[in-house]
Amino acid sequence: MKKVLITGSTGLVGSRIATLWQDKFQLITPKYEDGFDITEKDSLNKILDGLQFDFVLHLAAYTNVDKAEEERELCYNINVVGVRNLFEVCQKKKAGFIYASTAFVFPGKLSENPYTEKSIPDPLGFYGKSKWAGEEIVKGKAAIARFDYPYRFDNFSKKDIFRTIKELLENKVKLKAVEDMKFNPTFIDDIARGLEELINEFSPGIYHLVGKDYTPYDAFRLICKYYDLDLSLVEPISFFEFYQNKAPRPQYNALKQSNLKTRFRSFEEVLAMSLTKS
Ligand SMILES: NC(=O)c1ccc[n+]([C@@H]2O[C@H](COP(=O)([O-])OP(=O)(O)OC[C@H]3O[C@@H](n4cnc5c(N)ncnc54)[C@H](OP(=O)(O)O)[C@@H]3O)[C@@H](O)[C@H]2O)c1
Repeated sequence: MKKVLITGSTGLVGSRIATLWQDKFQLITPKYEDGFDITEKDSLNKILDGLQFDFVLHLAAYTNVDKAEEERELCYNINVVGVRNLFEVCQKKKAGFIYASTAFVFPGKLSENPYTEKSIPDPLGFYGKSKWAGEEIVKGKAAIARFDYPYRFDNFSKKDIFRTIKELLENKVKLKAVEDMKFNPTFIDDIARGLEELINEFSPGIYHLVGKDYTPYDAFRLICKYYDLDLSLVEPISFFEFYQNKAPRPQYNALKQSNLKTRFRSFEEVLAMSLTKS
């Protein structure tokens, strides 16, 4: 069985993947809270020297898009310096490297949709810039897996878009949904299967592990439809108005799914499936 080291295994994506992969790979999941800090080169080298693994799935990151604008140094240290530190050791150990990246590397121009693996990134905000800088470090030698708005169904501490909206609407909170924007909400279980494929058929390159694109308004409408919630609580709003005091981010950011064996289900398919399974 292949040995896979997962960084960021306490995060939204990593914790779900670690659960799903329990019987698929031999997992090593060092934790930040236990002193595994990718920004501390010496201690990182010492920890990794004592471990044996065939692949690294690098999910650990600074992920707060809005705060990244003020906490640039911290974001840069984790998303750029940290990647360099980790990648260097993995190269020495000849381990395959999967780097988790984001759709936020693109500027989200309608005329450029849908973005493919060949599209040239040009991120708008600091978070996107730091993730692209991370891509540039590993490019050509690693599999770069871009995600967008990953979601899951269990009660994880960090709420994703699905749970945030569902819980607000269950509590009868009025909310605004952007109607002139594109994004690709993606089921983490599908991402896990896509990443499993990338490990089992490892080939350096760029991969878009994303579901179908929607406008946020349409995605919220589907949550109302499948979970019997009140759509009249949802008011459409423009991208400009909603995000005017937030970090710059892509507006029309539909990504084209990569041509993999793994099928990435649409938000609607997954919502329908969640009801039949519960
Ligand atoms: N969530 C999204 O919307 C989204 C969208 C596109 C791409 N992505 C990418 O997907 C990956 C996973 O995202 P996520 O949402 O699961 O992230 P997350 O929930 O914010 O988790 C981040 C993880 O990184 C760890 N970490 C932070 N600083 C570290 C350091 N210096 N050394 C070692 N570990 C550190 C955290 O540990 P603690 O738990 O101890 O803090 C946590 O396990 C990231 O690369 C992100 O850029 C995410």
